[in-house]
Amino acid sequence: MTQGVRGTRDFYPEDMRVRNWLFERFHSAARAHGFEEYDAPVLETEELYTRKAGEEITQQLYNFEDKGGRKVALRPEMTPSLARMVMARAGALALPIKWYSIPQCWRYERTQRGRGREHYQWNVDIWGMDGVEADAELLSVLVQFFQSVGLGSADLVIRVSSRKVLEEVLGSLAISGDTFAQTCIIVDKMDKLPADKIEAQLSELGLDSSSISTIQSVLSINDLSSLASALGSDSAAVGELNALFALTDAYGISDWVEFDASVVRGLAYYTGPVFEAHDRAGELRAICGGGRYDKLIGTLGGKDLPATGFGFGDMVVMELLAEKGLVPDLTNGVSDVVFGMGAELRGAAMQVASALRANGRSVDLVLEDKRMKWVFKHAERCGASRLVMVMPEEWAAGKVRIKDLGTGEESTVAVEDL
Ligand code: HAM
Repeated sequence: MTQGVRGTRDFYPEDMRVRNWLFERFHSAARAHGFEEYDAPVLETEELYTRKAGEEITQQLYNFEDKGGRKVALRPEMTPSLARMVMARAGALALPIKWYSIPQCWRYERTQRGRGREHYQWNVDIWGMDGVEADAELLSVLVQFFQSVGLGSADLVIRVSSRKVLEEVLGSLAISGDTFAQTCIIVDKMDKLPADKIEAQLSELGLDSSSISTIQSVLSINDLSSLASALGSDSAAVGELNALFALTDAYGISDWVEFDASVVRGLAYYTGPVFEAHDRAGELRAICGGGRYDKLIGTLGGKDLPATGFGFGDMVVMELLAEKGLVPDLTNGVSDVVFGMGAELRGAAMQVASALRANGRSVDLVLEDKRMKWVFKHAERCGASRLVMVMPEEWAAGKVRIKDLGTGEESTVAVEDL
């Protein structure tokens, strides 16, 4: 009975400290870019996720019927909920919308390093802007976050492409609509599945072997000038990507981003620039991923609104931070431990603790009779900066004894000077 559901995690206080540290950096990078936080329920109608392109995410749904016979699902991602919220207030929201959230998401996945059946996913999205300026701003959010946790461009890379690359290639082969989305989902698995499996799936879709090899050769391109040669200088994909990369120069983040045509993303709804961050060593799964999805609301029955955003899980980045020795050693954040010597001074200790708390200090009050040795150890374990001791003689003079736990120095101070 001590074990939770497979693929889920417990967060003991020491885990929560690290999680809060990470989330605080998610919040900061988003707020520094003017994003506002929102939230939605973890339980949604199953219908919100019934897309037919054969995405993994829809096959991994935690879905069930509730007691009223309604088909519901635990959200596997936040984007459809966000689209639902935007749609519900269509016309009433001032554009652009710049919102972020840190929802828990549920996917019935094969558990492995960096992948669980639940994860927290920082989502940062911009709605109502169709220019690459919005996509570039998202890359800036990402880089600011990475810097705030001590990761550098030598540790990871954000690979960028555009769905338009494949769209142009497939358009010239007369493939569009549903088959286009399905092709994207298959080629996204190129680094996970053997080439013959990918080819078999593509030919099942109706692509002939020369189309398949054209796709493969374009997706192996990783510099923009070769892409321009392959797609032609009037290609919209090339124009979009050139503009986006020029903006990353302006932000001073070009060390962090690279063009890589093999980035396609495994979700059906992307329509423009797409990106994924990976550790440079290539040992871990994607750290985060996102892109432009201008037509999602249309597929949900609303009026399309341009949108772009990313999802950033808490698991892979923690693996990378641990590997790089960047996970901080955090204490529980108590500033003072207050201890009354003996039962008769407990009331006085409570008075002192209350006064300190009213002044905004975080105080752990020792509530039982303990030996001095235990109290010192306890204060150290809490990571407190001061130990405040209420002792008979000092208290009679309106004073307390203080030990500075950093320097080890002791002093006697008047209660009102604490
Ligand atoms: P996604 O690529 O499916 O995109 O997930 C985004 C990120 O969530 C991944 O890169 C990874 O960090 C994390 N993630 C996903 N599944 C798991 C898992 N089973 N265990 C641990 N981490 C996981 C989306 O979900 C899009 N809705 C993102 C987006 C937002 N696009 C536009 N706006």
